[in-house]
Amino acid sequence: MNLSDRPRRLRRSPAMRRLVRETRLSADALVLPLFIREGVNVREPVPSLPGIDRYSPDRLPEALDAAAEAGVNSFLLFGIPNRKDAEGSGAWAYDGVVQQGIRAIRRHRPDALVVTDVCLCEYTSHGHCGVLRDDSVDNDPTLPILARAALSHARAGADVVAPSDMMDGRVAAIRSLLDEEGFTEIPVMSYAVKYASAFYGPFREAAGSAPGKGDRRGYQMDWHNRREAVREAELDLGEHADMLIVKPALSCLDIISDIAAMSPVPVAAYSVSGEYAMIKAAGQNGWIDEYGVLCESAVATFRAGADIYITYSANELAQAIRKGDIG
Ligand code: PBG
Repeated sequence: MNLSDRPRRLRRSPAMRRLVRETRLSADALVLPLFIREGVNVREPVPSLPGIDRYSPDRLPEALDAAAEAGVNSFLLFGIPNRKDAEGSGAWAYDGVVQQGIRAIRRHRPDALVVTDVCLCEYTSHGHCGVLRDDSVDNDPTLPILARAALSHARAGADVVAPSDMMDGRVAAIRSLLDEEGFTEIPVMSYAVKYASAFYGPFREAAGSAPGKGDRRGYQMDWHNRREAVREAELDLGEHADMLIVKPALSCLDIISDIAAMSPVPVAAYSVSGEYAMIKAAGQNGWIDEYGVLCESAVATFRAGADIYITYSANELAQAIRKGDIG
């Protein structure tokens, strides 16, 4: 028996363990999703996402102040419109709900980083991420609509646009319209690798965006596939994506690791609604240590290679980092 090698030597005290941590976290890398709904003076809880509220634009300062207190400065915006139609025209309306939200954030916190989700599913009457022909989502006619939505976000003051629809060629379509209209400096953060996941369930309840008929497997990725993720990332990089998103996070640590290894641009992992809801529900039942599982999941995602973490728990994690519980 040779016991000269003793890994336990580096685990002897909290100070020693902190010294040799391989993964370091910063609140700068956290992005908090915000749900913005139409109306005035609305702040309503999302039942399947305990602790997360939907805000009307005028109440957004409450969410911004809580985030500022925790040390979170970056936000990913989703809109919940009152009216929907077949083309999702609310997605690019000048006075659309997200556009109003962007302006409200700009007024209250000019220094905040505003990322907008670019998709049609919240705005279409059928709940799909593009326009329908017969029963399937028609790729090419959807592209100019997505580009128009992205442009309207940029015009309202968004810092970054993040297409999540999974149409082929949408990064290029968005880039070229933004450039034509003078928004050459606005980056595209592409949901390059997005699986057709059951983990999006609570989000669809929060955003009222579940498809009326069918599912999203004709455009979102099949979670049996790993190499295909690299192909999706390469295609988006070829279309000049500035950042890539992998989604979900916890069921995709292998994918995050692959994309981090090949990507020349920053990689974000999105810890989606179902991941948050599971941790909250088990925590509320006393079945798991909620805070411990939250911290471990976040660190695991960074350890896999993520540079940026989009999470409904951003505020809590920022506090955990500040306290030294993680990172
Ligand atoms: C819009 C969109 C979805 C999510 C982010 N952008 C829903 C979907 O694709 O059905 C999911 C986010 C989450 O579950 O937290 N297409």
